[in-house]
This record gives sequence, C-alpha cells and structure tokens, in this order.
Amino acid sequence: MKGVVITQFLEMVEERYGMDVADQLLQSDGLSTHGVFTSVGTYPHTDAVLLMSTLARRRNTALGAILQEYGEYLFGYFTTQYPVFFNENASFFDFLLSVEEVIHPEVLKLYPDAQLPRFQSELINEQTMRMVYLSDRCMGPFAHGLILGCAVYFNVGVRIASRDLDNGRKVEFIIQLD
Ligand code: HEM
Repeated sequence: MKGVVITQFLEMVEERYGMDVADQLLQSDGLSTHGVFTSVGTYPHTDAVLLMSTLARRRNTALGAILQEYGEYLFGYFTTQYPVFFNENASFFDFLLSVEEVIHPEVLKLYPDAQLPRFQSELINEQTMRMVYLSDRCMGPFAHGLILGCAVYFNVGVRIASRDLDNGRKVEFIIQLD
C-alpha cells in the first residue's frame, strides 16, 4: 500500500479525533515499521487495516464505517493533490468511468508498485450507474466513501446501494442520482 494512503489516514485521525488518538494508533503492536510511515514509502496493506481496525475498536464502530469515512475524506485530498485528473466540465458518471480507464492506469505509471482494485462499470440509464469493485484487499467500503466524496466534489446528490457478491472481494454499487 502506498504510504500516502496511511499518512493521510493519520492526518484525518489527527484532525477529527486528536493528535493523542493518532499517536496511540501508531503504538499498535504488529505494525511493520513500528509506527514510522512516510507518504512516499510502500507498506504492507495489513498496516493500514491494523490502524483502521484499532480506530474502529476505540470508537466502538465497524471497520467498514471507518473505511467509508476515510474514503470520503481521501477523495478531497486527491482533488487537491492530482488536479490534472479533475476537469470541472466532466460529469460525475464520466469521472467514475475514468477511474478504471484513465486514473488508476495513470496512478500505476507513477507508482508501479501500487495495488489497485478493478472496476467494471456501466451506465444503466441517465440517472443510474452500476459499478462492480474487484479486489483481494476487500476494501469495498473505502470505494463507497470515495464515490461519496466524488459526488460532493461534483455537487450531485446520490443514493448508493451496495451488495457483497464474494466475501468482500466483489462488491456491486448501484449509484442513483437524486
Ligand atoms: C471515485 C473514485 C475512486 C475510486 C472508487 C477508487 C477506488 C480505490 C480503492 C477501493 C482503492 C484501495 C485498493 C483496493 O481496494 O484494492 C484505491 C487505491 C488507490 N487509488 Fe483510487 N479510487 C478512486 C479515485 C482515485 C483518484 C482520483 C486517485 C488519484 C488521482 C486514486 C489513486 C489511488 C491510489 C494512489 C491508491 C493506493 C494504491 C496503493 O495503496 O498501492 N484513486 N482506489
């Protein structure tokens, strides 16, 4: 996992839950680097899961809820960090289609060791898109949060229904414009 995904998570924790909570998460047993992460490093995916599940336990909430919250937060960071991918004239659905076709392939050129999910997306009608998330890392709720963050960026109201099709490895999202 790219370090930026971990350092931005810690940034969110600091902003929303306080520096002391972020510090405590970094002291969790089992982190590969004993709690030292840089945005340009690459770390085992399990480090991110450990930090996120420790926060979930502390806040007495589900890991999925933390992943979704973080996905929504991280989308805002992407818009400021990678402006080249954001064209205000594009539509929300066009942007979602471009994640698989353009954005993630470009991410892979920048960071050849990035571990990215696959998406199978199709427009069902002008108001509805079906997006199927595929990844062994089982981060469907993170994708859900990113899609919500994307809707905020494009200033559209959405309803998203998700359905697990294979123990978290394959998740279907039906995204409906309000
Ligand atoms: C709604 C739009 C997006 C969705 C739904 C999405 C989905 C995801 C998901 C679910 C992951 C976690 C890895 C996995 O599950 O296997 C991921 C990783 C990542 N995505 Fe996206 N993404 C979106 C947009 C973007 C954008 C705009 C950028 C940057 C310009 C980006 C860059 C990355 C990077 C750097 C990673 C981390 C790769 C790693 O840790 O090795 N994504 N994305």
